[in-house]
Amino acid sequence: MRLRNIPAAEPAIAASPYCIKEPNTIKGQWKSSISNNKPIFIEIGMGKGQFITTLAKENPDIYYLGMEQYSSVLYRALQKMEEEPISNLSFLCYPAEELPDIFEKGEIDKIYLNFSDPWPKDRHAKRRLTSSRFLDRYAQVIKDEGLIEFKTDNVDLFHFSLEEIQAHESFELIAHTFDLHHNEEMNQGNIMTEYEEKFSSKGNPICKLIAKKIVS
Ligand SMILES: C[S@@+](CC[C@H](N)C(=O)[O-])C[C@H]1O[C@@H](n2cnc3c(N)ncnc32)[C@H](O)[C@@H]1O
Repeated sequence: MRLRNIPAAEPAIAASPYCIKEPNTIKGQWKSSISNNKPIFIEIGMGKGQFITTLAKENPDIYYLGMEQYSSVLYRALQKMEEEPISNLSFLCYPAEELPDIFEKGEIDKIYLNFSDPWPKDRHAKRRLTSSRFLDRYAQVIKDEGLIEFKTDNVDLFHFSLEEIQAHESFELIAHTFDLHHNEEMNQGNIMTEYEEKFSSKGNPICKLIAKKIVS
């Protein structure tokens, strides 16, 4: 998702108490200084934030971080948050590449990846958020036995993601489905993202996988 450039976005993010600036200065202290010792769940590539905002409202005992690389996209989530602040949610306007600079080993309890950009060309495979290049970064910041949950309607990306996870030494695949909305067990409590609503309304089945960090 890349919206047209919104000039107001960067100053709003810089001024907002809901966006964490210089997050690398918090590395190693997220639980003590930000989450009030609550578990920390992060969505990487949150877009306009519908999924993470809903989760945060439903689960006050968990602290949520929404990470999005584009300011004009994050700005949409920020505008909603300003209308209705949520105390257990903050935003990070940073790319996933920077995760190990921002978080200490094991500081994150769960990672959500929803409808990540598919980057269909082979030469761009390393840019996919489920490629081994990113799994290496997630393995650095997620706790032992912490979970990655990934949803997409793109079957090629899903096959690629299953292969990358099964080949990765730090993760084990614990569940997957090619049709989430017809899988009673995995769909229980499912919260739809913006893209999930859009693609499932067109009749596309939604794929989901859950992977667990192997105890190191
Ligand atoms: C297709 S949208 C999906 C948005 C939302 N998760 C949903 O399901 O409705 C993917 C989002 O991921 C963001 N994104 C892509 N690569 C990223 C990266 N390396 N770091 C942070 N965000 C990224 C994009 O800017 C875009 O907003």
